Amino acid sequence: MKCASGMTRLLLLLALALSCRCCPDKCLCTSETVKCQNQGLVKIPPSLPAKTKSLFVTGNRIAEINDSSFPTRLENLAEMYLSGNEMEDVLAGAFKNLPNLVQLDLSNNIIQNFSESAFPDDSKLQFLNLSRSLNNYTTLDFFVHANLPNLTSLDLSNNDLLFLPDGMFKGLPSLTTLNLRNSSLIMFQSVDENEALLALRHLDLRDNHLKNLPAATMVDFGLRLDLRVQLAGNPWRCNCFISDLLAWLKNSTQVVDARELTCADPEAVRDRPLLQVQQSQLKCSSDMEGVLETSYVFLGLVLALIGVIFLLVLYLNRKGIKRWMYNIRDACRDHMEGYHYRYEINSDPRLANLSINSDV
Ligand SMILES: *[C@@H]1O[C@H](CO)[C@@H](O)[C@H](O)[C@H]1NC(C)=O
Ligand SMILES: *[C@@H]1O[C@H](CO)[C@@H](O)[C@H](O)[C@H]1NC(C)=O
Ligand SMILES: *[C@@H]1O[C@H](CO)[C@@H](O)[C@H](O)[C@H]1NC(C)=O
Ligand SMILES: *[C@@H]1O[C@H](CO)[C@@H](O)[C@H](O)[C@H]1NC(C)=O
Ligand SMILES: *[C@@H]1O[C@H](CO)[C@@H](O)[C@H](O)[C@H]1NC(C)=O
Ligand SMILES: *[C@@H]1O[C@H](CO)[C@@H](O)[C@H](O)[C@H]1NC(C)=O
Ligand SMILES: *[C@@H]1O[C@H](CO)[C@@H](O)[C@H](O)[C@H]1NC(C)=O
Repeated sequence: MKCASGMTRLLLLLALALSCRCCPDKCLCTSETVKCQNQGLVKIPPSLPAKTKSLFVTGNRIAEINDSSFPTRLENLAEMYLSGNEMEDVLAGAFKNLPNLVQLDLSNNIIQNFSESAFPDDSKLQFLNLSRSLNNYTTLDFFVHANLPNLTSLDLSNNDLLFLPDGMFKGLPSLTTLNLRNSSLIMFQSVDENEALLALRHLDLRDNHLKNLPAATMVDFGLRLDLRVQLAGNPWRCNCFISDLLAWLKNSTQVVDARELTCADPEAVRDRPLLQVQQSQLKCSSDMEGVLETSYVFLGLVLALIGVIFLLVLYLNRKGIKRWMYNIRDACRDHMEGYHYRYEINSDPRLANLSINSDV
């Protein structure tokens, strides 16, 4: 009797241990939410409750997630926050056991490697936050190869990106919100293939290093009627090349912060709102003057050089030239003497008479 009850208790305990997968060490669990925040963890807690829907593992020191970070399948896990972990590597298969992951926050990390096969092929991811998260812009190559058909929102703000790789958006057909604020972009060429970014609604390009926009980009924006763009906080260069942008700003409602755009240079229009600058003030003349000036200087130098060479030739040939001069002088003298002689003959009256008489 005693033995039997002991057995049941043991079995009960075993069953509990297998089914419950209780709250991991250093974590707080409420029905479907697990929080393991600021605990100095170096890896994802291995045995998470199977019904976990939201997981917060922020402010730890998880340098890497790989295909063994989530060893069991978590069907319910929909949102995961991994912000502030000094994370460097997101490796192949990292999220393969999270088939229903919809929202992923990887902000405030230092990611160097982001494997294109980190997500499963049929990933349902919709929101991805990579704000202040990429250590190296080459990490963006992830997007060139990745396929995230359901991704609608991508936050890439506060990264030092400079420019975006070609074909970056071709695997993101559903993207509607793209945040590129404060990402050191020196140019934005939205679309290399016309199929990309067709669903885009919100584009934040504030606080970058843009001086102008390519004409093709504005045409492209114009084709996406529902697109709204933010462009303030860029150092617009208000010379003749920006007149297309100004015309577009005046004629389009797509740039929601058009009034906040200001010129960074040239000097004459510095800090002026771009919309208040007249087309006639958008000059490239100063540049042209510069070009002309340099070409005049160049012409002058060439002429001077030719002059110097000419003088040098003269100097080196001075003996020959002297001889030549003498020759000419002698030739002239002979010639002149010949004339002189004939003149004297003609002007002698006696000879003149003689000739007249002889005629008679
Ligand atoms: C996966 O990452 C963990 C740390 O998150 C590490 O301890 C483990 O060695 C890695 N596994 C492989 C196969 O690299
Ligand atoms: C991650 O990238 C660094 C350089 O960026 C490289 O040295 C390292 O081998 C990479 N690690 C993995 C696991 O691919
Ligand atoms: C991304 O993360 C940053 C910092 O954690 C946060 O400020 C920002 O609002 C997040 N972006 C989105 C779209 O939720
Ligand atoms: C970025 O990563 C690439 C390859 O991973 C490496 O060659 C390059 O030096 C890195 N650049 C910086 C600024 O870290
Ligand atoms: C995800 O994308 C697939 C293929 O584009 C589509 O069939 C499915 O309805 C999408 N799911 C959601 C939740 O948007
Ligand atoms: C802009 O991004 C850089 C990283 O590229 C970051 O250090 C800086 O704090 C960001 N500025 C703001 C106002 O967030
Ligand atoms: C102004 O916009 C309208 C449509 O919004 C377009 O038909 C027209 O050609 C545009 N004019 C110029 C000068 O771009």
